[in-house]
Amino acid sequence: MRGVILAGGTGSRLHPLTRITNKHLLPIGDRPMISYGIEALVKAGVTEMMVVTGGTHAGEFLRLLSNGQEFGVERLLYAYQERAGGIAEALGLAAQFVGDDAAVVMLADNIFGRSFVSSVRRFSDKPQGARLLLAEVKDPAHLRHLGVPELDEAGRIVRIVEKPDDPPSTYCVTGVYLYDSGVFDVIRTLRPSGRGELEITDVNNHYVAEGLIDYDVQEGFWGDAGESIDAYYAVNDHVRRYGANLD
Ligand code: G1P
Repeated sequence: MRGVILAGGTGSRLHPLTRITNKHLLPIGDRPMISYGIEALVKAGVTEMMVVTGGTHAGEFLRLLSNGQEFGVERLLYAYQERAGGIAEALGLAAQFVGDDAAVVMLADNIFGRSFVSSVRRFSDKPQGARLLLAEVKDPAHLRHLGVPELDEAGRIVRIVEKPDDPPSTYCVTGVYLYDSGVFDVIRTLRPSGRGELEITDVNNHYVAEGLIDYDVQEGFWGDAGESIDAYYAVNDHVRRYGANLD
């Protein structure tokens, strides 16, 4: 199992904080944001990983993470995304690194109260298709900023709608995705969305159409610290009070 941590983007929803640094280097509690993603993967048993970043502050990741050993990472690689081409395009840069292995992909602005080691184990036992981590989000206004799955009566995902006006369930797709090595072939078939990006939701809907998608509902806290300044501080408050990535 290889880890891919996505830490690019312009962070425009956190302007002006992100005019002077990369969003994933902003502090959460006592550490820069990306440290939590690295820790989450290491706790899930993944020790070979690639950080994909972009923009003007990419060198700071090397300064912070170095070769990763301080974080328990055995092999740390870096890739650079030259333009804001979307999450799926960023993931595509890890194709050679992942090779024939399966991958756990994590958006570095997602912070989890509890470890998701059980989901990673379940997938790595038999990596086929895709497995998502969902979180329950009751507020429809919040769901409108996220990817939301529609579920049938048996609880199977029938489609995922990105930023829906009318959310079809009370779950969001968090920024942790488990894929078999075929994901890079899927990415090669994608066309840019209306905002000119290769969308991770299109990748996931491909697996829905193939009937090769499953999910776990992650218990405990989940937050996307990149969603807004308010969300950033809400995640900070939670982490300072309760911690993150707990066993
Ligand atoms: C991305 C995904 C979305 C997902 C969210 C989780 O949105 O596109 O499906 O729910 O991450 O953090 P973004 O934060 O890029 O708007």
